[in-house]
Amino acid sequence: MIWQQKWVIGNWKMNGSLKTNQQLLQALQTSVSAMAEQVFCGVAVPNVYIVSSCQLLNSFALAVGAEDVSRFAEYGAYTGEVNAQMLADVGARFALVGHSERRLYFQEDNSILLTKLHNCLAAKIFPVLCVGETLAQREAGQEKEIVKAQLALLSELSLSEVVVAYEPVWAIGTGKIPTTTQIADMHQLIYQQILSLCGEGVKIRVLYGGSVNTKNAAEILAVPHVDGALVGGASLQADSFAAIIQAACVPAL
Ligand code: PGA
Repeated sequence: MIWQQKWVIGNWKMNGSLKTNQQLLQALQTSVSAMAEQVFCGVAVPNVYIVSSCQLLNSFALAVGAEDVSRFAEYGAYTGEVNAQMLADVGARFALVGHSERRLYFQEDNSILLTKLHNCLAAKIFPVLCVGETLAQREAGQEKEIVKAQLALLSELSLSEVVVAYEPVWAIGTGKIPTTTQIADMHQLIYQQILSLCGEGVKIRVLYGGSVNTKNAAEILAVPHVDGALVGGASLQADSFAAIIQAACVPAL
């Protein structure tokens, strides 16, 4: 069912407190409960808030996930790390993998990201692989090569389901967004790549991320091959996140 739906996932990044999270999640429960049937909704939260977020949401249909996962699968002497099994243990259903901020500040490359994908799959939390080019790469006309190279690691896994978020780095937190033609071209390329790397039977969701807001969500979500949105800043306020989820509620055909 969720493979036919639009997905809207919030990425809180390094924001929140017990108090503000409670306010946000409670407000969301009220405003999006009717829509949660039609749209797969989730929030990626800082690890320290996974437990309390799961408790607050109780059985409400909003998946809680992590923003990252350790490259180390096993338990042991990895000070500061949180492995995929721990995330699953506390209720995380998914983890973002390879967000551009992780690639930039923590030098995460495909070999690291492959271990992270493996670890998520082994722990039965689904990875959301984030890809996207920088402004310099787009200006040099390299965006397709870059995204293809970022997706190449999918061939190393035997996957029946793939979730990718296309997030042009230059659109994240900047208020700039690609044109709908640019989004459509890239999403089509990502679909083709996934099908050729993982096989025809694979289930796919490709989300767009980067400055999605209440004003542009409906237009972006209507672009062919856009299966949902990964929302940063606008997911921190209940009213704007709820409005984006509302925009993803397309009437059944
Ligand atoms: P933004 O962030 O919506 O604030 O641009 C998106 C993201 O980084 O996932």
